[in-house]
Amino acid sequence: MPELRSVRQPAPSEIDERVFRDSLGCFATGVTVVTTRSEQDRPLGVTVNSFASLSLDPPLVMFALRRESTTLPMIRGVGVFAVNVLATTQREVAARFAAGPPRWEDLDLREMVTGAPVIGGSVASLDCRLHAIHPGGDHEILVGEVLALEQDPSEPAPLLYHRGDYAALG
Ligand SMILES: Cc1cc2nc3c(=O)[nH]c(=O)nc-3n(C[C@H](O)[C@H](O)[C@H](O)COP(=O)(O)O)c2cc1C
Repeated sequence: MPELRSVRQPAPSEIDERVFRDSLGCFATGVTVVTTRSEQDRPLGVTVNSFASLSLDPPLVMFALRRESTTLPMIRGVGVFAVNVLATTQREVAARFAAGPPRWEDLDLREMVTGAPVIGGSVASLDCRLHAIHPGGDHEILVGEVLALEQDPSEPAPLLYHRGDYAALG
């Protein structure tokens, strides 16, 4: 029998944060930038790897935002957002929207139907109407109904995130 490495913890509340982060970091994800517009029409964006597809009928997607996120009240207020699935060529875009006030210059921006900014060069973009917000501990889980979506026909390689670092397939 192969020996399984396991870390046993007595209760969920006592799980060590480092062990939790390291273990969950084994789960490779894609990287997205979720965008919206403030009520004053200011573009907003945040790097998100908690994105997942949720439902086909109706077409729903989901992601989670920290409760302190400055983007969260904006999405709650305007009720729309776009998810931009980043390509390996967009590492710098991921970094831009993960710290400090995001910089929008040099980005090829468009809109689909909701007015949320769509970032050119992304592998795919999904334009969504906010469908529901559910509590998720220190995060809130946002569910969006997909109103429009686009995929880059040249199929650029997706940017991945694994063990706290960016990665590529293969
Ligand atoms: C690869 C990567 C993935 C991230 N995923 C999330 C996420 O799913 N949810 C979240 O709340 N923050 C996530 N973050 C952190 C946010 O991007 C970062 O805290 C951002 O500055 C929040 O901006 P805001 O407070 O203006 O919304 C991620 C950061 C990185 C680098």
